[in-house]
Parts: sequence; C-alpha cells; structure tokens
Amino acid sequence: MTAELKQQTVVVSTIDEIRKLTDAFRGETLGLVPTMGYLHDGHMNLIKQSLNKCDHTVVSIFINPRQFSPSEDLDIYPNNLSRDIEKLESIGVDVLFYPNRDTIYPEGFKTNIQVDGITQHLCGKSRPELFKGVATVVLKLFNIVRPQHAFFGEKDWQQLAVIETMTRDLNIDVHIHRVPLIREPDGLAMSSRNSNLSPEERKKALSLSRSLNDSKEKVNRGITSSKQLRQNIKNIIAAEPGTQIDYISICDPISLEEKEEVKGRTLIALAVKIGPARLIDNCIIGD
Ligand code: PAF
Repeated sequence: MTAELKQQTVVVSTIDEIRKLTDAFRGETLGLVPTMGYLHDGHMNLIKQSLNKCDHTVVSIFINPRQFSPSEDLDIYPNNLSRDIEKLESIGVDVLFYPNRDTIYPEGFKTNIQVDGITQHLCGKSRPELFKGVATVVLKLFNIVRPQHAFFGEKDWQQLAVIETMTRDLNIDVHIHRVPLIREPDGLAMSSRNSNLSPEERKKALSLSRSLNDSKEKVNRGITSSKQLRQNIKNIIAAEPGTQIDYISICDPISLEEKEEVKGRTLIALAVKIGPARLIDNCIIGD
C-alpha cells in the first residue's frame, strides 16, 4: 500500500491484537521491521524498503532488556513514542507493535537462542548477552507477527549475520533483507545512541568514519597489512581524548574471523565508547 492511502498507524501492544491484525493480511505480503525505537533515517530507510516490497508493514518497538548486560545503557536508552508514531504515520506504516516487557517475557520465561561461532567475535567478546538476547527476541517477533519479509540494517553487521544464521539453521520461513548503513551528512553512522552524545562527543565520534575512509584509501594505495591498518585506525581514534576503543576488527565478512591481510572482500568493523555511548561502525573493502 502506498503512503498516500494511509492516514493512521494502528498501535497494538498485545499478542492477540497483533495476531488478529496480521491474520487479516493473509494472502498478502507482510514485512516486519524490528526496532528499539527512537527512529532515525536509518530506520526509516528500512521501513521504506518494507513498504516498497510488501503489501503491509509492521514496525515493532521494544527495548529488549535481554540484550543489555547489567553495566550497559538500558536505563538511558533513548525513547520518544509520540515522535516515533508521527514518523511512522508520515510514511504510511500499517501497524506499530509496541509490547511491554511482560508480554515478551512473561513470568517463567526460560528459553534462549544461542548462535555459536560468529557470536564469539567483535561485539560478542565484550557484550556476552547481546546476541543471545537479539536472537531470542527476533525469533519471538517472527513467531508473533509471522511476516514473510524482515528488514535489518548493515550497520549492525554482526547482528545481521546472527539473524541470517539463525533463520537458515532453524528453517524459519522469513526472507531477511540486508539494508545498507545510512550516514549523517558529516559521515557519522546513524544510531539512536547518537542522541546521548554531547556536541563535543559527537565531533569526536566522527573519528570512526574518518578512520574507515582513511583505511579505504590506504588499501587502494596497496597497503593491505591488517596490523598496519589497525594501528592507523587506532591512531586516528585515540587522537580524540576520551575515546575508548573496544575493538578494531579486520575480518572475513561472513565468518567474522580476523584476517592478517586485506585480500578479497573484507569487513572493517569498530566499536568505540565515547562518553555514555558505545558506537559501532563498519565498511566493506576489497573486491
Ligand atoms: O537492532 C536493533 O534495534 C535490535 O537489536 C533489534 C533487532 C530490534 C532486536 O532487539
């Protein structure tokens, strides 16, 4: 359906309600865009892909406590439901699924989805709860909403790899669409967490995309040693006082195993703590 035909996004928070609505869409294609809210242009881009591809689109907003460790930023994760609803209505989203914690994790909830291997790298090393929480909630959302298509951004490259692996391994009948990362005009990768940065921290955060661009140039000039490229990224980011590098990974984009040399298609992925926010960014280099 097109945006012009839509006036209102229906907001539902129970499983019964969302099932009734999605039952009514049977025979038509349904796209799901799972989010944790505080929607930005990166999310809007995912939603537009779903609106273009599918007859109906459900967006979910659920700040999933199970993907945060106790020391992480769950309590300060940004939210603004009325602003999000306005944005969804402005582009003609059919339904917002906005469950509360008890709906997703009722008392007695005991199941976790664990994807092995790729979760041991990058963010999985320092955020042990993250991917178990993500895989569990995404599978729940798939089972509740029952879409044929689901849309995820490549900014969370590892998350996408985990969701693709889970979907393949468990024969889940949902087509996973990868949507390229979207940047602010100055290069900062769009993220809800950017709103927790002060203006000064935001300037420092530009060192992430700057270091990735610099690496691309170096690779184009024939520098392919991961050690050298990693050191160079480190120098650019560490030159901004107060930045704390969690990891710089130069790895295979599928297995996420580290590479000593940039040969063939290679992922450079970074995580850096700046003030209250832990930011991630990545780019693909090589053929
Ligand atoms: O990318 C996110 O916002 C979350 O990790 C997701 C996929 C909605 C699961 O909570």
